[in-house]
Amino acid sequence: MELLPQISNRMSIYKYKKTQLTKGSLERILDAGRRAPSAKNRQPWRFIVVQDETIRKRLEKAAYGQEHVGQAPTIIAACTTNIDYRMPNGQLSYPIDLSFSVAFMMLQAEAENLGNCVITTYDEREVKEILSVPHSMRVVMLLLLGQPEERPFPAPRKSLKQIINYNHW
Ligand SMILES: Cc1cc2nc3c(=O)[nH]c(=O)nc-3n(C[C@H](O)[C@H](O)[C@H](O)COP(=O)(O)O)c2cc1C
Repeated sequence: MELLPQISNRMSIYKYKKTQLTKGSLERILDAGRRAPSAKNRQPWRFIVVQDETIRKRLEKAAYGQEHVGQAPTIIAACTTNIDYRMPNGQLSYPIDLSFSVAFMMLQAEAENLGNCVITTYDEREVKEILSVPHSMRVVMLLLLGQPEERPFPAPRKSLKQIINYNHW
């Protein structure tokens, strides 16, 4: 099984069809997220699946009017269940743990031929209120999911040569 073609094919989708995800697709995507690694296997995540149109439109507003937020038929809000734990290197674990989990979901979405887009440009206080997220927790990102209406031009990437060093920086 080769993953690179699917990884290369993935791109953020900014226009979605109205068609809702099948129950099977959604379950497999959530299951992929559940299986992600996390520091000390603490799995500090809670995922809120939003398909209700009224709530999606409110999230669009909280995301400063980004239309693709309200248009995507499914939004997964990736939230923390812990915001304090630091790893032995001093870094907070939750942004990394949640990112792995959402990245796994994005790859499963790609395998299901579904468009997706990570969103972090939003008023977190407002999003927390809309989704009744406890005060002490955080909404780390939103993941949009749906059938692509349109695929944009691929965003360029730096070459391997620009980003890889061996043995020293
Ligand atoms: C951490 C993160 C935050 C992002 N936030 C937003 C966002 O708020 N709104 C948006 O439209 N796209 C957002 N994106 C999508 C990026 O703009 C996109 O991944 C990047 O331009 C590369 O394009 P590609 O995903 O098509 O390869 C975000 C992506 C990441 C990884």
